Amino acid sequence: MPAPLTVLDTLGRPMRDLRVSVTDRCNFRCGYCMPREVYGPDHAFLPRAEILSYEEIERVVRASVALGVRKVRLTGGEPLVRRELETLIRMLASIEGIEDLTLTTNGTLLAQKAQALADAGLHRVTVSLDALDDETFMRMNDAGVPVATVLEGMAAAEAAGLGPIKLNAVIRRGMNEHAVLDLAERFRGTETTVRFIEYMDVGHTNGWRLDDVVPAGEILSRIDARWPLEPIDPDYRGEVAQRWRYRDGAGEIGVISSVTQPFCGDCTRARLSADGSIYTCLFATAGHDLRPLLRSGASDDAVTDCLRGIWTGRTDRYSELRTLDTVDLPKVEMSYIGG
Ligand code: GTP
Ligand code: 5AD
Ligand code: SF4
Ligand code: SF4
Repeated sequence: MPAPLTVLDTLGRPMRDLRVSVTDRCNFRCGYCMPREVYGPDHAFLPRAEILSYEEIERVVRASVALGVRKVRLTGGEPLVRRELETLIRMLASIEGIEDLTLTTNGTLLAQKAQALADAGLHRVTVSLDALDDETFMRMNDAGVPVATVLEGMAAAEAAGLGPIKLNAVIRRGMNEHAVLDLAERFRGTETTVRFIEYMDVGHTNGWRLDDVVPAGEILSRIDARWPLEPIDPDYRGEVAQRWRYRDGAGEIGVISSVTQPFCGDCTRARLSADGSIYTCLFATAGHDLRPLLRSGASDDAVTDCLRGIWTGRTDRYSELRTLDTVDLPKVEMSYIGG
């Protein structure tokens, strides 16, 4: 019997997006994600043998598409540090049914790789950039990378046809609050949509405190006081960012308010870690390891059945249930399962 096109979880949510982490490594050490004290020279990254090959990733993506996934996002760590990512992109671009094939990157390697990614069939990119002044940006990335490197990467991506770009900025109290108006000003009137992200308690190494969160409402009122805003409808059901546009016609921005206004009700996202586990929530403490199945000669149908079973049993809605106690749970790290 052919697989039904839509499987629903226990809360009636379909599986629409798959976020694929291709590596747990990154050339940045953002304090909110991979703090250098934890991810130092002695940190044990995943051994090569445990990381899924491109063929294995492709099988899982195909299985998810058979179950209703239409959007695939490559993440990491930093996805562009994995060798020949364009090979994987070419494999995924040929899968019928994927409507949006995209990638989240810190932008450092885009100047070098944007054209090859576009040629392989990538549709667009989302770039992370947390400030426009070097002092703050280097404090955020803790890797000595200046803003210009990322802006050059963005320009290369646009030139290669990977725009319009969405730009993600995580805002932390007392760290880069001024970046809100800087980024809004710099990208007003351009095709780039800046999305301001509330600092989240993902993982358990970043020492997250509620006091460090700048609520989306505050971010919006700061921008609105300078350049008045009005809300716009979501692009699609389950969109993570709330969209707003400048009343003077200078384009739009977004806010991602996982802490102050959770959006689990519409969450259609599954995540595949670099070592082959499926996570049904960004804040999960455990995943479902597909590697034994993938490496035991199982059929494609068996992989699809396994995924279906995982999704139909899904109950996650962490952000809606978040309390000060859940913050200390041994959650998986974001660099491992992808943003
Ligand atoms: P677009 O299609 O470009 O709108 O992508 P997207 O909305 O999926 O956004 P993106 O992948 O760039 O995600 C933006 C940020 O939102 C991520 O980096 C995370 O910080 C956060 N985010 C994404 N998905 C989830 C989720 O399922 N739960 C929570 N709590 N946060 C999420
Ligand atoms: N809170 C919010 N966003 C985060 N990101 C990484 N860690 C966190 C966190 N703790 C964002 C990155 C990037 C995306 C992949 O996730 O800045 O834009
Ligand atoms: Fe790397 Fe992105 Fe994490 Fe920063 S947020 S350390 S760029 S994976
Ligand atoms: Fe989805 Fe979990 Fe995020 Fe809620 S907290 S939106 S269930 S990933």
